[in-house]
Amino acid sequence: MCGIVGYTGTKEAYPIVITGLKRLEYRGYDSTGVALLNNGLKVYKKKGRVSDLEEAIIGMDLHAHTGIGHTRWATHGEPSDVNAHPHTSASGKLAMIHNGIIENYTQLKKELTNKGYVFTSETDTEVLLNFIEDIKENNQCDLEEAVRVALKRVTGAYVILLLDSENPDTIIAARKGSPLVIGVGKGEHFLGSDASPMLEYTKEVVYVNDYELAIVRPDELILKNLGNEKITPFVTRLDMELAAIEKGGYDHFMLKEIFEQPSTIHDCLRGRLDAAAGTITMKGIQDNIQHFINANRIIIVACGTSWHAALLAEYIIEELCRIPVEVEYASEFRYRNPIINKGDIIIAISQSGETADTLVAIERAKENGAIIFGIVNVVGSSIARISNGGAYTHAGPEIGVASTKAFTGQLAVLTMMALKIAKEKGTISDERYTDLLFELEAVPEKVDAILKTAEQLKTIALKYKGAADALYLGRGYNFPIALEGALKLKEISYIHAEGYPAAEMKHGPIALVDENLPVVFIATKDSYHEKIVSNIQEIKARKGKVIAIITEGDDLIPGMADDVFYVPPADEIIAPMLSTIPMQLLSYYMGIARGVDVDKPRNLAKSVTVE
Ligand code: M6R
Repeated sequence: MCGIVGYTGTKEAYPIVITGLKRLEYRGYDSTGVALLNNGLKVYKKKGRVSDLEEAIIGMDLHAHTGIGHTRWATHGEPSDVNAHPHTSASGKLAMIHNGIIENYTQLKKELTNKGYVFTSETDTEVLLNFIEDIKENNQCDLEEAVRVALKRVTGAYVILLLDSENPDTIIAARKGSPLVIGVGKGEHFLGSDASPMLEYTKEVVYVNDYELAIVRPDELILKNLGNEKITPFVTRLDMELAAIEKGGYDHFMLKEIFEQPSTIHDCLRGRLDAAAGTITMKGIQDNIQHFINANRIIIVACGTSWHAALLAEYIIEELCRIPVEVEYASEFRYRNPIINKGDIIIAISQSGETADTLVAIERAKENGAIIFGIVNVVGSSIARISNGGAYTHAGPEIGVASTKAFTGQLAVLTMMALKIAKEKGTISDERYTDLLFELEAVPEKVDAILKTAEQLKTIALKYKGAADALYLGRGYNFPIALEGALKLKEISYIHAEGYPAAEMKHGPIALVDENLPVVFIATKDSYHEKIVSNIQEIKARKGKVIAIITEGDDLIPGMADDVFYVPPADEIIAPMLSTIPMQLLSYYMGIARGVDVDKPRNLAKSVTVE
C-alpha cells in the first residue's frame, strides 16, 4: 500500500524516482508525487497514475540530485491532487512521503490546530509532518532529532522519507510496520518500498527494521534506533534481475505471471524434491521437525489468495499428517483474543511478506510463545524475518495485483511440507509417499500442457463476459480453488462471484440459479466425482449455464455442461495446482473482454500494509 522511492547521489534524481514509482505502482495508483531538492524544494503531484504526473510536468525544472517520490493507495482523504504526497510543512521547508497509517493523528491534529496550524489536506501524513516541524522549531533541534522525538508519540504504521530544504543532499527515513529497503551504491543511495527501483544500479541492499531511523547521504548511510544509538547496517546481496520485473513481451504482468508457472513451480521444487531418491529437502522444516511431529495443533493465518492456499493446506495436512489444522483470517485472529498454547505452530502465508494483518497476527502469537513458520515469496520481507523458520516460494517478483504464480508456489511448498512431515511422522505409507512425490514433480509439465490450450478459455470468457454474477463450486480439495476462482473473477473483471462447496449450494445459493447465471464447476476426477456430477445436474435442471473444469478422459460431464475445459489427470491432492490455472486464465480473459486494467484493478493494491 503506497510505494515510496528516494535517491541521493550524483545522478539526476527525477528519472530514477519516476522509473522507480512505475515499478512500485502495483502498491497503489490513486495519485503520484515527487519532491526534488535543488536550491529549495520543488514538489509536483497529481491525482492518477505515474504516467499522468509524468505528462503533466514535461518541460518543468526537474534538475536535482536528491529526490523522493510516492504512489498512493488512499486511506485518509479521497484520491485528489491536494491529498497526494509529498506534503510540505507549514514553513515550506520540509517535504514528506508516507506509507502507512498514523492512528493517533486526530489527537496530534487537535494539538497542532490549537497552536494555529492550518491543514490543506485530509491526510494523517500532513499532520505528522507538521508535528515533526513543530518539534524541530520548539526544541531548536535538527530534523533527525525532531523525527525521533515525534515518532515516540506516534501510534500506527509508517515508512516516512523527509527532505529538508536546509539540508540539500540528505534524506531522513524511518520505519515501523511498512517496508523500507536502502540500496547502497558508489557515492549514491537508493530507497524503496522494495528493491525494484534500484535493481539496475546496485545489488547491495539494507533492509531497515522497525523503529530504525536512517540518515541517508550520497556517501553515508547512518542507521540509528529511536534511542539515538547507532546500528551497523547489515548489507544483503540481492538475487533478482531487472528482467524479472519487466513484462517480457506479454501484454500484462498478470498474463506473464500465469505463463511463468511451469518455471516458477519448477524453481520452487528444485533442490528440494527428488522423487527418484524419495527425498524432500527443506531446511526450515527439518530444523523444526520435532515441533511439527509433536504439534497438537497448527494454526494457519493469511489473507486473500494466501488464505485460500491455507484452506487447501488444512485438507492436505490433516489427511497426510493427522495434525489438527485451523485456518484463520489474519485480520480476525489478531483481534479476537485467540487461545494460543505454548508450542502451537503458527504458519503465516503471504506473497508480499508485508501484509499488515498477517504480520501483526504473528507478532502477537510469537509473544504468546507460538512457533512461527513463514511461507513467503518476497525474500527478506518482514514476515520472513520475524518467523522462527520458513520456506520461500521462489516464484520471483509478482507485479500483477492478482496473485497467480505466488499461489501455485504456496501450494507446492505446502504440499512438500505436508509430505515431509507425514513421512517423518510415519502417517503416510511408503507407496503413497512415492506416488505423490512423482505426481508433484510432474506438475510443471502438466501446467505447461494446460497453458497450451489457454485460448479455449478466451472463447469461454467472450461468451460469458456480460454476466452480472457467477457461482464457483468445488468439493474437497477443489473447494478452496472454487473460492480462489471467485476471488480472481471479482478483482479482475468486477463481476460479482461467490465460491461455495458444491453441496452447500443447495442450502441457499441455488436460489440465484437461472438461465443467465454461469456456474463454474471444478469437477476433476477425485473421490467426490459422482457427487459433483449430481450437483451439475441440479444446476442444469434449473437452467444454469455450466462451465466445467474436468479431467482429460472424462466422458460424462461434457454431455451435461455448456462448456468444458480439460486438465491432465492427477492425484486429487495435486489436482488443485492444475485446476487453478484455468480459473486464472478465465478471469484474465474476462477482465480483458470487459476493458479492465487487469494489472491494476480499481481500489486494490498489491501489498496491503494497513489494517
Ligand atoms: O501478500 P499477501 O499474500 O499477504 O496478500 C494477501 C492478499 O492481500 C492477496 O492475496 C490479495 O487477496 C490478492 N489481490 C489476491 O489476488
